[in-house]
Amino acid sequence: MTIRALHVASELYPLLKTGGLADVTGALPPALVELGADVRALLPGFPAVLAGLADLRPVAPLARRFGAREATLELGTLPATGLAVYVIRADDFYNRPGNPYLDSEHVPYGDNAQRFALLGWAAAQLAQHLDSAWAPQIVHAHDWHAGMAPAYLAAAAQERGRAPARSVFTVHNLAYQGIFPAHQFGQLGLPPAFFDMHGVEFYGQLSFLKAGLYYADRLTTVSPTYAREIQTLAQGCGLDALLRGRARDLTGILNGVDYSVWNPSTDTLIPARYTPTRLARKSACKAALQSRFGLAEKSDALLFGVVSRLTEQKGLDLLLAALPEIVTRGGQLVVLGTGDPALEQGLMRAAHAHPEAVAVERGFDEALAHQIVAGSDVMAVPSRFEPCGLTQLYALAYGALPLVHCVGGLADTVTDASLENLADDLATGFVFERFEPRALTAAIRRAFALYGRHREWRATQQRAMRQDFGWGASAQQYLALYRELA
Ligand code: ADP
Ligand code: GLC
Repeated sequence: MTIRALHVASELYPLLKTGGLADVTGALPPALVELGADVRALLPGFPAVLAGLADLRPVAPLARRFGAREATLELGTLPATGLAVYVIRADDFYNRPGNPYLDSEHVPYGDNAQRFALLGWAAAQLAQHLDSAWAPQIVHAHDWHAGMAPAYLAAAAQERGRAPARSVFTVHNLAYQGIFPAHQFGQLGLPPAFFDMHGVEFYGQLSFLKAGLYYADRLTTVSPTYAREIQTLAQGCGLDALLRGRARDLTGILNGVDYSVWNPSTDTLIPARYTPTRLARKSACKAALQSRFGLAEKSDALLFGVVSRLTEQKGLDLLLAALPEIVTRGGQLVVLGTGDPALEQGLMRAAHAHPEAVAVERGFDEALAHQIVAGSDVMAVPSRFEPCGLTQLYALAYGALPLVHCVGGLADTVTDASLENLADDLATGFVFERFEPRALTAAIRRAFALYGRHREWRATQQRAMRQDFGWGASAQQYLALYRELA
């Protein structure tokens, strides 16, 4: 039996991307289609989304909801993969330049509750045959933006005595919760009883993330370790009790790599292509990176790369604290990132202090991200917490050994270059346990020590590059979950 599933999210690579969520929603649906599932996506009609779809045509008007003056459901095709994508064209909600969630002052838009309620509501409508030609059996909602979809499905189930579709909710990041003042509940059109501790209420407010966690039939998150971590008081962001209560419905399924996008042997965004056995050409990528950033063009300087959202999560304050360890040992650091202004300034100051060794570029640049991963010897991901993390997976594929904190998906995907792991041919990177400068510094020293032993470094690079983190295995797990539900 072919399963029909609708993925509901706010971003999807290559249409619109602010982080790893887009990489997942861009790659998982095609991987499921490959396995024989009938998968479509639903997105808000942000300008970049409408501009990137081919053959857009109207499907149905959406009732005037949540204050949008006009709203239409349209269907188009993603040229890169042929994926069928529904979009909500509602210009007064989504036709805004820049970041999809924040205004130009980095403040969340005042009408985000309405903007993303419409997304969840439209998903539930699709499950109720809004498009007469196609309706999903499974609604798969991602993160808080889509968290209301399971709530609207539950409301419909209550009304008709039968659920229009089953739902899966995937947590990509428990720290972003979509919290709004309680008085906005009245505008959502849900039964009053839904504003409850057993419902969408969260410490007196309204939480779209909790809506997803409470009402979805099944929960997943993006790595097995993170699935355990979020059930603890320390890392549960106030939702650990709910998650422990739903432990049997919750699974951790590791994200994958889309090797059609992230593959050093075919990547056209990098200056030279290379493979595990033709690694010499990686040096050309390193030289180009040093020159692009005005760093000393030394082939033997250990080059650390960072491509990251600049938020507290990512632990770059710790990396700044450990920077002397890199610089005094003759290493270099290249950072591409955007986000928190204080972090941006801290990084810029470090670059001014060490112009030959540290370079920082502010902004979001897909091509440069590829060039940094290809040109670096080490990719640093010292996150405080990391649900899965994709940069360390890309780093493995490009032979840039990841240096990571032992949390979440980082712990599940990187094996430390300890003596015993090297001896057993297991090492793929550098892992530190405690989130403190001493532990990070020790990992940096391990990286320098291994770099000094050329043969072992190369063998570790080759091992890293040969790891298979493709989507196949993970897509199988999602499909098995859909089958259980349908
Ligand atoms: P998160 O989703 O928490 O940001 P991930 O590691 O899962 O972390 O995914 C980050 C994704 O965003 C990767 O594809 C990474 O290359 C990309 N990325 C992050 N910051 C930038 C940036 N400044 N420019 C280009 N790509 C970026
Ligand atoms: C989130 C997480 C990141 C994860 C990504 C995709 O943004 O922070 O760890 O890889 O979602 O699931």
